[in-house]
Amino acid sequence: MMFRKSRCLYLLIMIVIFHFIVITLIGYNEPGSSLQSKLQVNLFDVKNYFSNTIYEKPNSLLKFNQKIDKKFESIYGGVEVNDENRFLYLLELFNNQHSNEIIIPEYLTDPDTYENPHLQDFDPRFTLGLIFDYLSTSLRRVSNLDDVSIPYFHWSDWSDLSVLDEYLLSNDKSDCVSFFDVSTNNRLRNKKLEILKPEDFCLNDEDIELILNPKDQETKEKRALVDQLIDLKDEETLKALRKIKDEPYSTNWHIFKYPGRSKKKLKIIQSKSYLNDFMPPPLAINFLLPFDNSRSIDLRVQVNQKIENKKKLIDTDLAQNYAKRYRRANKELLDVSKDIILNIRDQTSYLQSTSYSKFLEPQDFIDNSTSIHNQLQLENTKKILSDSDLNYMNSLNVSLGTGSPSKYFDEAKILKKELNWALGGHYDWRFFSGIINYTEKQPPVLFGLIRAWLTFTNTYGLNTWIAHGSLLSWYWNGISFPWDNDIDVQMPIADLHKLSRYHNQSLIVDLGQGGDEESRFGRYFLDCGTFILSRVKGNGNNNIDARFIDVDTGLYIDITGLALTDTKTPTRFNHELPSHLDRNLLDETISDYNRNEWLEAYNCRNNHFVRLSEVNPLKLSIIEGQPGYIPNNFAQLLHNEYGKKGLMAKKFKGFTFLPKLRMWLVSRNLNKFLHNQEQKQKLERGEVKRDDEEEEDYDNIPVKHFKDEDYIDLLFDQPELLVEYILTRNITEFHEHEIKQLLNGKDTKSMLLHDDHLKTYFPTIRHDYFTYCARRENYKFERMVEDKLKQVKLSKEAPLETKQDEQDEQDQQDQQNKQGQDQRSKPIQKAPGHPPILEQTQEATDDISRTRVDPQPNQPDT
Ligand SMILES: *[C@@H]1O[C@H](CO)[C@@H](O)[C@H](O)[C@H]1NC(C)=O
Ligand SMILES: *[C@@H]1O[C@H](CO)[C@@H](O)[C@H](O)[C@H]1NC(C)=O
Ligand SMILES: *[C@@H]1O[C@H](CO)[C@@H](O)[C@H](O)[C@H]1NC(C)=O
Ligand SMILES: *[C@@H]1O[C@H](CO)[C@@H](O)[C@H](O)[C@H]1NC(C)=O
Ligand SMILES: *[C@@H]1O[C@H](CO)[C@@H](O)[C@H](O)[C@H]1NC(C)=O
Repeated sequence: MMFRKSRCLYLLIMIVIFHFIVITLIGYNEPGSSLQSKLQVNLFDVKNYFSNTIYEKPNSLLKFNQKIDKKFESIYGGVEVNDENRFLYLLELFNNQHSNEIIIPEYLTDPDTYENPHLQDFDPRFTLGLIFDYLSTSLRRVSNLDDVSIPYFHWSDWSDLSVLDEYLLSNDKSDCVSFFDVSTNNRLRNKKLEILKPEDFCLNDEDIELILNPKDQETKEKRALVDQLIDLKDEETLKALRKIKDEPYSTNWHIFKYPGRSKKKLKIIQSKSYLNDFMPPPLAINFLLPFDNSRSIDLRVQVNQKIENKKKLIDTDLAQNYAKRYRRANKELLDVSKDIILNIRDQTSYLQSTSYSKFLEPQDFIDNSTSIHNQLQLENTKKILSDSDLNYMNSLNVSLGTGSPSKYFDEAKILKKELNWALGGHYDWRFFSGIINYTEKQPPVLFGLIRAWLTFTNTYGLNTWIAHGSLLSWYWNGISFPWDNDIDVQMPIADLHKLSRYHNQSLIVDLGQGGDEESRFGRYFLDCGTFILSRVKGNGNNNIDARFIDVDTGLYIDITGLALTDTKTPTRFNHELPSHLDRNLLDETISDYNRNEWLEAYNCRNNHFVRLSEVNPLKLSIIEGQPGYIPNNFAQLLHNEYGKKGLMAKKFKGFTFLPKLRMWLVSRNLNKFLHNQEQKQKLERGEVKRDDEEEEDYDNIPVKHFKDEDYIDLLFDQPELLVEYILTRNITEFHEHEIKQLLNGKDTKSMLLHDDHLKTYFPTIRHDYFTYCARRENYKFERMVEDKLKQVKLSKEAPLETKQDEQDEQDQQDQQNKQGQDQRSKPIQKAPGHPPILEQTQEATDDISRTRVDPQPNQPDT
């Protein structure tokens, strides 16, 4: 039994690791205990301990895994995924031909017979399929990629804006004030809480009409007011307004600017309204195309920026052209079925090598903004700059002329009276679709983000590495912590300039690895802040330089640049300074810039310092199964950041590391398991269970004496844990070998590369977000098309109603819906008047204690 301690291990625990394990693994159950604060232990050392003592020979691990596989097969072999064992779907990460295909609606392939509803939900297969068809046909005609561009761009083809449909179809429209006003009469209070008046961010149809055709003095005044917010002297702005006026449907209200703090539900609608009406198209789209099972190639295509080309794909002839070609090519198939099928799998190939290490130079950390700006200005007089260069030059110009920069990035700020309002701060407001922290939907998003970022930067040879919490979680087991949801990366300022110049405002589309793997449809928007020139904390408005934002949810990767600045280094560097730079000299001719230059110490705008010797050389590693780079001396960096802070009790609170499985488990679930085991033993021994017996708070130490059988019992007791183990075990095992080599100062090149080509390849461990949601919600493109047609028809016959007071009703409904089923695929007719966002937000049940590894937290013990 698991509590039987081997004498040897017991001694070891008592003597050697008492301080580490007892304090760390128990300590975090009691944050603030005095013992804990006395002992400055940290995660770093604990992990070292695990690596060196618990880690077993590969052979025993192989046997362990075989036992698990056998048992898994006997229980789940041949079992079909259904609602009860939905967790099994997490393992189905292979290519499913069926889910790559959609049938193009007849209103597009046969427009003479069927009426176009001008409204269709977002589906990435529709968009990407048609765009690829267009690109491949065009590329056959021209030889140069620069001569091809994405002809039409409307955000509704790239992000799900369907929550607007109800308002678009309603015949009883609300206006900006009645729908969006959450301000109070107290102006100071509004200002403090960042609550704006609707007129500062929203235009009604009527306003637009008046702006375009000003009649009297009053409208001229209104126009002047709006002019301060959006530049009406700019012909493009006026075109955009005319465009909105000419749309077949209107919500009546149009968000044209960051709308400040608001209710969660309104925030979602605001974000979609902005994307629908005012968000500029990306400058380019980068398609990361699958290649060779282990890397991707990038196809970068400019996007037509003209307002006239802001069209939804259903309002263009792309589908009809595709249908024509399809009919020509598939005569026999069409005898059987009239369906025009679109399949997004399209392969391209290209060869590319990977380097094991990358050396950075001191000048990579010198900010060059001024000289780049001047050079671009010079070029601008000689030739026509690309859209990207022009945009970048203008930003540098603004940045050069600004002393105290305003905040660049805006998050989805939620009214503070709402539950979990603070979480809105982790989402970009423009793509906000509801809070998904601690739900099953978050891991696919975060995985998609890191995968796309690594693929993208590897493809362009941009130097970047994971930092802070992301580096720490990599260090533990090569994958992310189940509780630490944000992703942080750093890059030298020179690379940040490259990123900004060539890729700012690009949409990056990750199509996955191809081959046997599930298709991916991830879309990410790269946004680089304007004030790249200011490299110090300054007013603290812009700690983050750039964001890589998931277009489906608004979650993002924070990107920070490191540069040589005049910021004072932490004291830990003092003793390294040579005597002529000593701080005690009080010599005013010596600046911190001089010291930092000598130290080769660089900082981000949040004053995190990194020395060149700590990062150099960047080394190839495997992060969440994907190739990416880590700083050479990650141990020192982690020690700098986490060693001092002690053991970060809070972050580990509630989770226990299972060394044999190399993963984290919610401690409560472990305790439950241990409790049940103990009860079973008692029963076996004939002891009677007392009803009032409290569940003990186990100190987690038993894990250290777990035998394989105990682990296997635990795994099969908690299917979600089992599935997670099966998904991650190859990656975490590889990581364990790798980290041992690295900590022993050994080279890991041979583990990773063969002739400069990646030889370790891990299949993706999480579903594509769209595919995952589609499966969960039983979504089907063809059914959605039909439903939408019905809704459009219905709204023309019996108008749908949308009233302000329904907002409140909606709040109540949301409460009731909390326990309800997910049914996003059946939106409007089922509950007229209730927008489908209900189903999207209810996902975040506002229960902060829920996590993906703890799917049924309230289930009674059995
Ligand atoms: C800095 O700018 C100058 C002039 O544009 C250029 O020659 C130099 O290579 C740049 N250095 C870096 C590190 O980008
Ligand atoms: C910004 O651009 C304007 C117009 O080209 C120019 O006159 C100005 O000098 C530039 N500002 C800086 C700081 O270079
Ligand atoms: C919610 O998710 C965001 C983004 O993933 C993350 O940065 C944040 O820490 C999470 N919040 C909590 C309380 O876990
Ligand atoms: C990126 O593009 C945005 C939008 O055009 C612009 O405001 C920002 O200044 C740009 N950033 C850089 C660093 O060029
Ligand atoms: C994990 O590794 C084993 C042994 O190398 C291999 O057979 C298996 O296919 C791998 N599984 C995954 C999901 O990569």
